[in-house]
Amino acid sequence: MLDLLGGLARTRYCGELNETMIGQVVTVMGWVHRRRDLGGLIFLDLRDIKGVVQTVIHPESRDIFTKSEKVRNEYVVAVTGVVVARSERNINAQMPTGRIEIRADALVIINDSDPLPIQTTEHAMADEDLRLVYRYLDLRRDKLQRIIIKRHEIIQCIRQYLNERNFLEIETPVLMKSTPEGARDYLVPSRIYPGKFFALPQSPQMFKQLLMIAGFDRYYQIARCFRDEDLRADRQPEFTQLDLEMSFVNQDQIFDVIEGLLHAVFDQCADIKLRNPFPRLSYSEAMNRFGCDKPDLRFGLELINVTDIFAKSQFQVFQNALCKSGSIRCIRLEGGASLSRNQIDAMLEIAKHNGGNGLAFWKHLAKDLRNGIGKYFSDNEIQELSTRTAIKEGDLVIFAADNDAMVFKVLAAIRNHLASLLQLIPDKTYAFVWITDFPLFHKSELSGQWEPAHHMFTLPKDEHVAWLDEPEKIGDITGQLYDLVCNGMELSSGSIRCHRYDIQKKIFNVLGLSEAELKSKFGFFLDALRYGAPPHGGIAPGIDRLVMLLTEADSIRDVIAFPKTLKATDLMCNSPAEISPVQWNELHLQPTD
Ligand code: AMO
Repeated sequence: MLDLLGGLARTRYCGELNETMIGQVVTVMGWVHRRRDLGGLIFLDLRDIKGVVQTVIHPESRDIFTKSEKVRNEYVVAVTGVVVARSERNINAQMPTGRIEIRADALVIINDSDPLPIQTTEHAMADEDLRLVYRYLDLRRDKLQRIIIKRHEIIQCIRQYLNERNFLEIETPVLMKSTPEGARDYLVPSRIYPGKFFALPQSPQMFKQLLMIAGFDRYYQIARCFRDEDLRADRQPEFTQLDLEMSFVNQDQIFDVIEGLLHAVFDQCADIKLRNPFPRLSYSEAMNRFGCDKPDLRFGLELINVTDIFAKSQFQVFQNALCKSGSIRCIRLEGGASLSRNQIDAMLEIAKHNGGNGLAFWKHLAKDLRNGIGKYFSDNEIQELSTRTAIKEGDLVIFAADNDAMVFKVLAAIRNHLASLLQLIPDKTYAFVWITDFPLFHKSELSGQWEPAHHMFTLPKDEHVAWLDEPEKIGDITGQLYDLVCNGMELSSGSIRCHRYDIQKKIFNVLGLSEAELKSKFGFFLDALRYGAPPHGGIAPGIDRLVMLLTEADSIRDVIAFPKTLKATDLMCNSPAEISPVQWNELHLQPTD
């Protein structure tokens, strides 16, 4: 009978061996991490999921010594031998198993390996595209293995926390009808129904609400979501959410669950004690103070509104902004007067890149208060500006003047740029903040139509429900919407939902959905709201982003076992891929040229 393992069975993992096992005979199996031939002795460092252990092959064991001469890196082998203490001189304090080694008595070469096309160590890493082609080899890297294991721990911790609090884990369909989340859908053509398509879920939004209507009270799911959208460092076309929903809750109760959950995850998975409760900022406060709804609170550099001070400014750019009902805002940079010309130019470049028309600068130099745009300032303006910004000798004030949206965009980008340029961001700090009270709708720049600011199933604040009937008030309606932001990254979004048919219908009307569209897209959902829907709300933290935070990964691709590239392709499987003519036919589709 063929015995591909040479009659051996694994008794221990390589990485778990230690001094307490000295004298024991063990069998380990793994990859040859490193092979050293010291003339008289051959050392094979064996690696498995738990770590690396050194095995020693002595020339007296002639059989296995000869065999081990053939072994190369990344061969898969089994070694049986006694665990022995290393001599004092050979102890490797850097290695968790560095005080022992295995004195090999048996060696089986289970499988050989061609020379690897990429290195599996952190040094001399190949470029990312090549590593993605050989993802299964790149995943042998210690760093990636740790991240993927940490991801597993995080998910188990989440499950345990929620299970203990009466949440039920329930799966929802992957082949479904499109849920509008704002991105393009991935579509799946139906073979059985020509011309009809399933959509892959952008999120399980409607299903989780239907589960509340069905009476499940508290639901969660580690849910795969699919969105065909422009990708960035923290976006993938296929990603994972912790999707959750609760009945008979208010916003504070949802915040409590999420804060408790994150506290447990950070504590158990990273030994980091978060300070609960997290601070809260309303959307308008976040915009006014930081210029964006995802503020990084690890550093200051807050925006200061100086529009009123310059109401009668002689400076043309300021006047122009005021003419179009815009604003003039600034950031004071302590000691910034010493920034170089290049550093100033880099800021101007950032302003332009963000669509702005520029920035203005004023240095607080005792000898010359009229530098930069200072020459246009009146004494009074200088006085008021100095008080408002609390400026000191040697500081720099950076102004943006335009419509509000542009001023915020430009100064938010400048704020982040300065923080990294001047290394103002402390290590190992997690600045969580809830952003609340978002507007329910915003106007599409393209179509001029009202669009949902988050999604269309959100309840307005009680006192704003009546405004759904007042067209001029639509833009002022605040939704029961919230985001959780950490270190400038949006980690979660959620809302209290419309549980009332009449209110949901009005929202659809504001969005300009025709009766026919309503019926075909959301008929089943609107119907469900008529059969005793409980008040409910939920949230969906992005798991990939959470793992990024906890593992300090720079790229979302590092926290997903088999990620897509920034161009939404899988370089390993080479997908998306052509399909056969038979499949085109079966799906009733035709290729275009
Ligand atoms: P939203 O669309 O804001 O809300 O998504 C919630 C969270 O999911 C993560 N996320 C992503 N992560 C990686 N790649 C992407 N392309 C991507 N898109 C989103 C983010 C984000 O905060 N159904 C609602 C939630 C709800 O209201 O309960 C939803 O999906 O971390």
